[in-house]
Amino acid sequence: MGSESDDSGLRSERWWGPDDLRSFGHRSRLRQLGYTPGDFMGKPVIGILDTGSDINPCHQHFRQRVDDVKRGVWQAGGFPLQMPALSLGEPFQKPTSMLYRNLLAMEVEELLRSYPVDGAVLMGGCDKTTPGLVMGATSAGYPAIFMPAGPMLRGNARGKVLASGTSAWRMWADRRAGVIGREDVDQIEQGIARSPGHCMTMGTASTMTAATEALGMTLPGASSIPAADSRHAQMASLTGRRAVEMVREQLTPAKILTTAAFDNAVTTVAALGGSTNAVIHLLAMARRAGVPLTLDRFDELSRRVPVLANIEPSGEYLMEDFFYAGGLRGLLARLGDLVSAEAVTVTGRSLRDEVRGAEVFDDAVIRTLDDPLWPEGGIAVLRGSLAPDGAVIKQTAAAPELLVHTGPAVVFENYDDMTKRIDDESLEVGPDSVLVLRNAGPIGGPGMPEWGQLPLPAKLLRAGIRDLVRVSDARMSGTSYGACVLHVAPESAAGGPLALVEDGDLVTLDVPARRLDLEVSPEEMARRRSAWHPPAPHYQRGWGKLYATSIRQANEGCDLDFLEAGEPTEEPAIH
Ligand code: FES
Repeated sequence: MGSESDDSGLRSERWWGPDDLRSFGHRSRLRQLGYTPGDFMGKPVIGILDTGSDINPCHQHFRQRVDDVKRGVWQAGGFPLQMPALSLGEPFQKPTSMLYRNLLAMEVEELLRSYPVDGAVLMGGCDKTTPGLVMGATSAGYPAIFMPAGPMLRGNARGKVLASGTSAWRMWADRRAGVIGREDVDQIEQGIARSPGHCMTMGTASTMTAATEALGMTLPGASSIPAADSRHAQMASLTGRRAVEMVREQLTPAKILTTAAFDNAVTTVAALGGSTNAVIHLLAMARRAGVPLTLDRFDELSRRVPVLANIEPSGEYLMEDFFYAGGLRGLLARLGDLVSAEAVTVTGRSLRDEVRGAEVFDDAVIRTLDDPLWPEGGIAVLRGSLAPDGAVIKQTAAAPELLVHTGPAVVFENYDDMTKRIDDESLEVGPDSVLVLRNAGPIGGPGMPEWGQLPLPAKLLRAGIRDLVRVSDARMSGTSYGACVLHVAPESAAGGPLALVEDGDLVTLDVPARRLDLEVSPEEMARRRSAWHPPAPHYQRGWGKLYATSIRQANEGCDLDFLEAGEPTEEPAIH
């Protein structure tokens, strides 16, 4: 396989090439779809894995984009086949779409392996769809390229620009404090999400599509294009074209997803002030690729990479502004030697080569190395007696005076307990308190929901308090902010020290020293541990049960243990 005129040896030929009864069946069914042998014989088959659906507003434009991708595939001499995959509509899925990321990954791997696919276009963008698609395609091992959904346009209402998530959290704090009323809320509800595309803050979606571009899995510049921009449709078509060429070049994920590529992705997340969720997803993606990425590598790279992207929630602007300012290519060009020259992208060229010469048109949105938004990356990795296997905090989104803090714990047993008591006027809580939420991790949540930005007690909001130290084994939306320590590992449901915290215990957070400690003696902790019992499992059957029996902890990426890199799975027999 080397050119359009020499598409011999395709995997799909095993299905419809032979002169036998089984292949007759395959060919006759393609003809049932209206195709003639000239459409499919000897053509690289590109599976278009489409995570669009009516329950995913971020992907509503995928109906059109599938056609755009197909146009590119046909033009390059390939044969496109749309394959719907689990949609994972972040705004609606309970208890959390994170419970199903690995199910999507598993589905993607099995779709690609079980059908006559030579290569794939992975269409995603809404939070968990990006890692799920890439993880599955990595395990399947066939050439694959990611087509990012693109951010939605800026929100707008009441004469103000609105940011996905971030504005909602601020609005709700104002509502609970009695500053705004129902009519104001209704107007914001109408204007905060007003076009196709994923959340337009530097939340999980924008972080993960950018990280995937930095990994080399998208066309250069693809992740920054707003979904509503005509250049997005052009990018989709070019992505389809490139997928066909990648099959001819046998450019597989294994050749792209190297240690250098993951360093580029982690560097990019740091420079963007990206979502803490990227830590979990990139760890899982790396483990699929057999790359030994660790939590500590995030901290190492974060310490040497400044935040250049001035985007909410760490900064002031939104993804639409970022695109106009030069987008990810502009930002990566500014990072210079901090971007590895070794990592190859879907183009076959290095990421460094792809961004060389890219311009920045607005220094306020993409800052310079001499004038960064923050001198080091947004995510800090903490360890200590309360988090022996690690925890993370987005230091750029926290009140600076709380980054070194000791205070008494106010403990909530689980999310329901927290919602029942947080606004209780008799709750003993003050500005120095440390809110602790447990049973919100991968097993305890289940699925590690985004509960880590615990709401502030109403009485403190009324007193003008807008941030407290919060500690949990949950995740936090990438659009959230606050002094929230997240991903505490091991989680409480697995018997981590978080399970043993009691009201009034002193908790010390020291971000510069990267510490999170519980000021309780080892003897007392041993006494508490001897009386501790794990919570009852959430599920007795189905996916939830399989998930709970095999899920990794947050510091290992929360994949199912049997889906990580290992022995290759054999190709299906064709008979
Ligand atoms: Fe889809 Fe935020 S809800 S990306």
